Amino acid sequence: MSDPELDKIINKVAKEEKIFKKKSALDTSNPPLKLVSRVNEVEKIVRYIHDYKQGHVVPLVSIYGRSGTGKSTLVRYVCNYFPEIILCFVNLKKAKTVFGGVNLILNELDQPSLTSAQGMNLGMEKIQEAILNKMKLERKKLFILALDEFDVIFYDKRGNPSDFVYKLVEMIAELKNNGCLAMIITISNNVLSDSELDDRIKSRIGNSEIFFKPYSHEEMLEILRARAEEAFDKKIDDKVLEKCAKVSYLEHGDARRAVDLLRVSAEIAAKEKKDLTIEHVNAASQQLQKDRTGEVISSLSHHSKLICLVLAAKTYGLEKNWHATKSIYEKYVKYLGSEPVSYRRFSELLKDLENTGLLESKTGSRGQKGYRTEFQLIMDPQIVGEIIDKKWWNEIVVHPKASLDKAKNSGITKSNPVYLHYKMAKKGIESWW
Ligand SMILES: Nc1ncnc2c1ncn2[C@@H]1O[C@H](COP(=O)(O)OP(=O)(O)OP(=O)(O)O)[C@@H](O)[C@H]1O
Ligand SMILES: [Mg+2]
Repeated sequence: MSDPELDKIINKVAKEEKIFKKKSALDTSNPPLKLVSRVNEVEKIVRYIHDYKQGHVVPLVSIYGRSGTGKSTLVRYVCNYFPEIILCFVNLKKAKTVFGGVNLILNELDQPSLTSAQGMNLGMEKIQEAILNKMKLERKKLFILALDEFDVIFYDKRGNPSDFVYKLVEMIAELKNNGCLAMIITISNNVLSDSELDDRIKSRIGNSEIFFKPYSHEEMLEILRARAEEAFDKKIDDKVLEKCAKVSYLEHGDARRAVDLLRVSAEIAAKEKKDLTIEHVNAASQQLQKDRTGEVISSLSHHSKLICLVLAAKTYGLEKNWHATKSIYEKYVKYLGSEPVSYRRFSELLKDLENTGLLESKTGSRGQKGYRTEFQLIMDPQIVGEIIDKKWWNEIVVHPKASLDKAKNSGITKSNPVYLHYKMAKKGIESWW
């Protein structure tokens, strides 16, 4: 059966894809052919690992760094480079609970899952047994258990994450007694606060830490050049790559998002049947910001959405970026009408929003009046407003603001009879921002 309409669409898409020689080089879930930059971080990892040749390694190395700074990629790449190492890499984000983490490790070692009723201790025994067998069978020198997105298990308030880590470190010691050298590498976005690990663990694991800085402009450019060379037939104008690197460096220092930006820019150019230019990068940047903001906002609670809406209205309407907690709270109460959360809870919600990357805060001293925290939206207020409530946003913010701007620009002066009218309107509308 043939379908000419469908064929037409398939041909169109195939034609667009011709811009790419190997599009998978721009897929950030694929490991890179070669590591670019990060020499210092690579050296630090190598130093910790390489000690196995002396028959001694630290039990646990903690790696910290913001999203897209190459943590997971580097750990995999460096560990896999040593033929004498077995790497067991698990992403704890897939587990959510402590016991889920135990099962993930078991599965990665080709073992069946346990039920939580069978208990953590049995889980640990099974893991230890599987490691010993694997090391003996494959005759390797070092076993590395990499726990990616390690901070996630600390959200499991019902389980006991601290105990889980303690048991793993104990297991490493027991493996050593059995002639098997092993170490744990934890990878997290946030440095764990002291309260999250209890003292017996802290003293056991010492402080073998590696911090990954966000990528610099030059490093970002290097990564993009390597990917572009692989992905496109035609040489991409360096100005385009420079632009992608600059936007990414200024906004986040995240290599994953930099590569995504290049891919989406190329897709837009392909649709227009044009060579890739800086304008395509601008369009892609807008589109990605919209997608990302939408994704983050869709997972927020009603109250958090409202907080974002208030901030967006204030930022756009008043043309001012930073806003104090109190002023945001007052408008939030006004918009909500009934049953607002307490001021204290409100401050917590603002902090949570900061963790999602939608807001950022700064705290400054106000002399004898103490300290004041202010917040600003990181995302474009218009994008935020439209995503949360387009109708409201246009009626309460965009149209009134446009009328006010128009009145202002038409040269209203105090002696003008419409001035009073204008001033009252302004006051009325601004009371909403
Ligand atoms: N030094 C590098 N050379 C080549 N590609 C890199 C490098 N660093 C990162 N990348 C690419 O950037 C993307 C993000 O890297 P990675 O997943 O390692 O970041 P991460 O620090 O683990 O981030 P997250 O905290 O979000 O998990 C991957 O697609 C990776 O291939
Ligand atoms: Mg990672």
